[in-house]
Order: sequence, then structure tokens, then C-alpha cells
Amino acid sequence: MEIVIVPTPEDGGRIAADIVCGAIENGARTLGLATGSSPLHTYRELIKRHGESGVSFAAMSAYLLDEYVGLTPDQPQSYAHTIRTELVDHLDIDNARVFSPDGGAADPSEAARRYDAAIVDNGPIDVQILGIGLNGHIGFNEPSSSLTSRTRVKTLTERTRADNARFFADPADVPHHVITQGLGTISDAKHLVLIAEGARKAPAVRAAIEGPVSAFCPASVLQLHPHVTVVVDEAAAGELQLADFYRYTTEHKPAEQGY
Ligand code: GLP
Repeated sequence: MEIVIVPTPEDGGRIAADIVCGAIENGARTLGLATGSSPLHTYRELIKRHGESGVSFAAMSAYLLDEYVGLTPDQPQSYAHTIRTELVDHLDIDNARVFSPDGGAADPSEAARRYDAAIVDNGPIDVQILGIGLNGHIGFNEPSSSLTSRTRVKTLTERTRADNARFFADPADVPHHVITQGLGTISDAKHLVLIAEGARKAPAVRAAIEGPVSAFCPASVLQLHPHVTVVVDEAAAGELQLADFYRYTTEHKPAEQGY
């Protein structure tokens, strides 16, 4: 696991965009996308590079991590809609190749199985972007999620519902259920890039990186993956015991070693 501590969230966005663009140059064809505020600097940077440097996403497919049960892609709070307006509409990626779990399905469990099978059939995902919830969730894998879980229907904690209430007119409108890629599904991706910013995320970042591997902190599953880059700003790195060591290893990285 490589932990990159950067001065500002904007710097984090540039590092994560470097990883995505470098992977595309090296033949990557499948991206894993996350919603939430954490990846927004990365997405803005990708949009900028597409506009200014002509980085093309035309050959790419993308898979979202998760979706609310009961919301369809035309509803602004759905993650499918969110990723379209925040990223996809501003790139040359074909919207028909941007996939998300079918939150509007009559049988959400069956939709989850189908989605997982599609990722297995078309994967592996080359670069998976991840944020982290205050309780250490990734995707919508709340604490107690099996570390080998596949895409399935999950119930949100009240804390996560409250954290996400800002996107809804009424906090009561936040769905209780979601379809999320499982921790095993996420771990199938070749390169996991977790982005966190702000002091509020510091305890979750510490638990994920320096705590025990445990279903209590779902993001700790990253410790079992062979290729992980964690990009954190100084505030989110604030509780890391080995922060100086992480800075040292980034500074003294072998010249040929990319992220
Ligand atoms: C939601 C998403 C996660 C995201 C998390 C943190 O729960 N399902 O994928 O990582 O929020 O969001 P934010 O980056 O806005 O703090």
C-alpha cells in the first residue's frame, strides 16, 4: 500500500488523475467510479485534462460502486445521475458504457447479482476510485460487511443516512437500502485508489490503514490488496502514526516506480 500525503485536496485530485491517465496510456479500458465529495477534485482534474490536453476516454467503460434502492437514473439524487452530471457529461466517454446497479429494479437482489456478474465478465476494473465514509465504509459496505462480499442489497446505518441527507430535500427521503459492490467485488479491481480529505475523515483513514483488518472497518480490506494507493490531504492524515514514514517513502520512491 502506498500512502501519499498531499498539502491540499486539489493536489490529491492531481495525483489521482495522474494514476487514471497513466493507466489509460498503458491500455486501461475499465474505470471504477465513486460518488461523494472525495473524488470531485479528481473528476474536475480529469475534465480539465480532457479539455486542455485531449486525454480521451472514448475507449473506456465505467462501473459505479453503488446505487440507492428505489432511485432511477433520471432522479437527481441517484448516483447514476450524479456521476453523469459531475463527470460523464464532460468527457468523451460513451454514456451507454457507464454502468450502475439498477436501483429501480423490481427485484434489487437479482439486479445486484446481475451487476456483479457483469463486472466479473467485463472486468477486471483497471483503476477503482474510492472514497471513505466516516465509519470506514467503502461503496456502501457498512461495518460488519463480509470482507469477501459480492454485490448485494445492504441496509444503511443511520449515520450514513444522516451524512448523505444533504443531497435530499428531507432527511427522511434518504433511502434505507442500497445496492453496493461487495468488498470482494471491489478487491477484484487491479488498482484501488482511495481518496480522503479533511480532518473529519482522519479517524476512518487511520483505522483503514493502521488498524486491524476487520469487518468493523470495511476499508481495512485494502490492506489485503496488492496494489493500493491512498491519497490523503494533511488534515485526513492527521491521525496517522507513521505519517512521517509515508512522506519519506513517497520522497524516496525509486525513479521508475509509478503509483
Ligand atoms: C457515500 C458513498 C461512498 C463515499 C462516501 C463518502 O456513502 N457511497 O462511496 O465514499 O459516501 O462520501 P464523501 O466523499 O462525500 O465524504
